[in-house]
Formats: sequence, structure tokens, C-alpha cells
Amino acid sequence: MTRLLVLPIALLLAACSSSSDASSDSLATETPGPLMRPGENCLRCHSPNTGQNAPVWTAGGTIFTRKDAERDEGVPGVKVVLRGAAGEEVEVVTNAVGNFYTGAPLTKPYKVAITYEGRTKEMPIDAPAGSCNACHSWPDPVGGAPGRIYVP
Ligand code: HEC
Ligand code: HEC
Repeated sequence: MTRLLVLPIALLLAACSSSSDASSDSLATETPGPLMRPGENCLRCHSPNTGQNAPVWTAGGTIFTRKDAERDEGVPGVKVVLRGAAGEEVEVVTNAVGNFYTGAPLTKPYKVAITYEGRTKEMPIDAPAGSCNACHSWPDPVGGAPGRIYVP
């Protein structure tokens, strides 16, 4: 079965206006919502039994300009295609701060491809989990990841 999920853009734009970071140019915020904590491991909180009461995502992360980008250098409009081991396919698009996330069912591990302005690149190995930013962090990437996820 193929599942196709696209983030509702209107919802994301609506969320911008509630950003608490009015004093800075960055839309990134600590306030829970689509623009929260770009670059951090979303699944640290968005997993079952974390005590955080956050909705559970099967994958979440942020796509940046470069592997060593600052947290406010996320790229909107990047298409992320995740293919679960049971054949599920989920497509999401990064929002204003470069964040993407999904709660759609996905069986681990995942095949990953990202597309931006007609260019595509794949993660050369399967992602063992949807906690993308846990490995793709900067300045201390984990598990051999090159750094942050960045546009092709
Ligand atoms: C420190 C814990 C924590 C981290 C890390 C975190 N979140 Fe959240 N997030 C929450 C909590 C708690 C809520 C729910 C707040 C509420 O419902 O009042 C939330 C809510 C959200 C919502 C709104 C969901 C809804 O349906 O209302 C989105 C979207 C979201 N987070 C995306 C992300 C993304 C993307 C990341 C990673 C870049 C992330 N979060 C990282 C704790 C976290
Ligand atoms: C366990 C750690 C880990 C997790 C979790 C992880 N990755 Fe990766 N990722 C890697 C490693 C390691 C590489 C580099 C592999 C190589 O070059 O052989 C990589 C490479 C990539 C690349 C290609 C990088 C480039 O510039 O060529 C993309 C895109 C990517 N990952 C996206 C994702 C996404 C999206 C997720 C979440 C669904 C994710 N990754 C989860 C470790 C991880």
C-alpha cells in the first residue's frame, strides 16, 4: 500500500505567527509546534513513553543548507521520501525552518531520498530509525553521518 502525506502548508504558516521568537529574524522556536527545535532529535520527545506527552512520530528531522549549518539555516520545500521495510511509502516536505515529520506507519529500517530543485540524493545505507537528527547533528555527528542533513 502506498501512502502519500503532504504537510498542510496553511497550518504551518498559521503556526509562524505564534512563534515566540519575535525579537529575532529566525522562525525557529522552542515553543511546541512545527517550527520547534530545528536540528534536534525530534524522536527524543516524539516517541512513546518519553513522559513528554508529544505526538509520536515515526520519523522527524531537519534539512539544512550545509552539513555544518546553524540551526536557523534550514531549507523549506525539500521533498523527503521514506520507504519502510514493509513497502510503506511516505512523502513529506520541509517547512519554513527545514523541519519534516510524520506519524504515518513505517517499518524499520527506512530507505531515504531527498529532492530539492530537481536534484535528488539518497542515504547510501538504510536508516535504522526515524530519529534522523540523532545521527545527523553538528558539530558532533553520530554513527558515521556526515553532519546535518543538507540539500542535494
Ligand atoms: C524536548 C522535547 C521535544 C523535542 C526535542 C521536539 N518536540 Fe515537538 N513537541 C513536543 C511536545 C511536548 C509537543 C506537544 C505540545 C502540546 O501538545 O501541548 C510537541 C508538539 C509538536 C508539534 C505539534 C503537534 C500537534 O499535532 O499539535 C509538531 C509539529 C512538532 N512538535 C514537531 C517537532 C519536530 C519536527 C521536532 C524536531 C525538529 C520536535 N518537534 C522536537 C516536544 C518536543
Ligand atoms: C544511525 C545513524 C543515522 C540515522 C538515524 C540516519 N542517518 Fe542518514 N546517514 C547516516 C550515515 C552514516 C550516512 C552516510 C553513509 C555513507 O556515506 O556511507 C548518512 C547519509 C545520509 C544522507 C546522504 C548524505 C549526503 O550528503 O550524501 C541523507 C540524505 C540522509 N542520511 C538522510 C537521513 C534521514 C532523512 C534520516 C531519517 C529518516 C536519516 N538520514 C537517519 C546515518 C544515519
